[in-house]
Amino acid sequence: KTGMFTYDPGFLATASCESKITFIDGDQGLLYYRGYPIEQLAEKSDYLEVCYLLLNGELPTAAQKQEFDHLVMRHNMLHDQIMSFFKGFRRDAHPMAVMVGVVGALSAFYHDSLDINDERHREISAFRLIAKLPTIAAQAYRYNKGLPFSYPKAGLTYAENFLHMMFSTPVAEYKVNPVAARAMDRIFTLHADHEQNASTSTVRLSGSSGANPFACIAAGIACLWGPAHGGANEAVLKMLNEIGDEARIPEFIARAKDKNDGFKLMGFGHRVYKNMDPRAKIMRETCYEVLNELGLHDHKLFKLAMALEKLALEDEYFISKKLYPNVDYYSGIVLAALGIPVSMFTPIFALSRTVGWISHWAEMIADPGLKIGRPRQLYTGAARRDYVSLDQR
Ligand code: SDX
Repeated sequence: KTGMFTYDPGFLATASCESKITFIDGDQGLLYYRGYPIEQLAEKSDYLEVCYLLLNGELPTAAQKQEFDHLVMRHNMLHDQIMSFFKGFRRDAHPMAVMVGVVGALSAFYHDSLDINDERHREISAFRLIAKLPTIAAQAYRYNKGLPFSYPKAGLTYAENFLHMMFSTPVAEYKVNPVAARAMDRIFTLHADHEQNASTSTVRLSGSSGANPFACIAAGIACLWGPAHGGANEAVLKMLNEIGDEARIPEFIARAKDKNDGFKLMGFGHRVYKNMDPRAKIMRETCYEVLNELGLHDHKLFKLAMALEKLALEDEYFISKKLYPNVDYYSGIVLAALGIPVSMFTPIFALSRTVGWISHWAEMIADPGLKIGRPRQLYTGAARRDYVSLDQR
């Protein structure tokens, strides 16, 4: 029994660590950040308030929220020398490659003066990373497009600033659509943390060696890039475009069931959820709202995605294997409706998840008892044997 949650002994044997940050019940499809249901946070909170909650364990008072927002928005610029890192990449480098490189390079600017055992230094690292990741992601996109670098602007919210940095040019200021900004903010919240997923475990394991937080977050970004993890939203769009028409859905469902085919329905299934991912439900509602409010209600891909979801959830294979849509299934459609290019889907996941990564990192550094120990293995290789010289082989 831990707090209000009782675990069965079988589960306890698989748990790799303890944490107070996020709770998931895969069978019931529950997700709580510091005890608050994701549905309530997505509807009533905003991303920076969720960042404060994940980092500090409690919702902020009005004064605390104002100070936190101010601190983050004051650190969203990049040292001018960092801008030259981008120029070392090929123009067509994937923005995730740029983010891994530039975030890791932040170590060269902030690491030396950092004592990770000092709580204040950990807090400063956290809001520097939360503040700078959107700026880095937006510059990666602009460099890719041959656009001049952009800068954050005072008076905009976190989500508004990201859209502004992505799309404003010196001759055409991006007019932030409140619908787009609200949807962007909600996408950040839905991706903010998710217990011990692969990239969070990567950050914790990196941090357990005492590596600096910037290097640890760069490791998390690298892990998230994989198509089975954070790269899935990009893969969903590609899959829907390949399906193209509702008439072809049965063909792709059959392929997903054929073990020899190797095809998987992107955005479906989850290592933990054996019920609907609660984030997928919220993302589908957000999708519908955004498409309606932007006048794209007959959006072809959204209708195709809903038809595919309906047919898959009626199919014995998916029912028996408890495969449901996950957070990535609708997120790509929302992002595409906001004009975000596919190449930026995973970078947006990475900038959203940075607060979760750094919260887990800080929790572990603050309490060495929470460090993930050095993983062991079962050895299944050759038995002991003596060296054979080259002329004998
Ligand atoms: C994220 O961990 C997290 O929390 C991650 C994440 C986060 O917020 O950090 O939630 C984000 O990574 C979401 C997942 C995004 N990935 C995708 O949508 C890619 C498509 N999904 C699959 O690759 C897969 O579902 C995984 C990798 C997500 C989970 O794979 P598992 O652990 O094998 O799933 P499972 O044990 O439930 O699979 C049961 C069966 C298996 O077949 P059998 O061995 O029983 O014959 O279902 C099959 C799987 O092969 N299966 C699928 C399938 N997913 C699992 N078959 C067809 N299509 C699929 N999508």
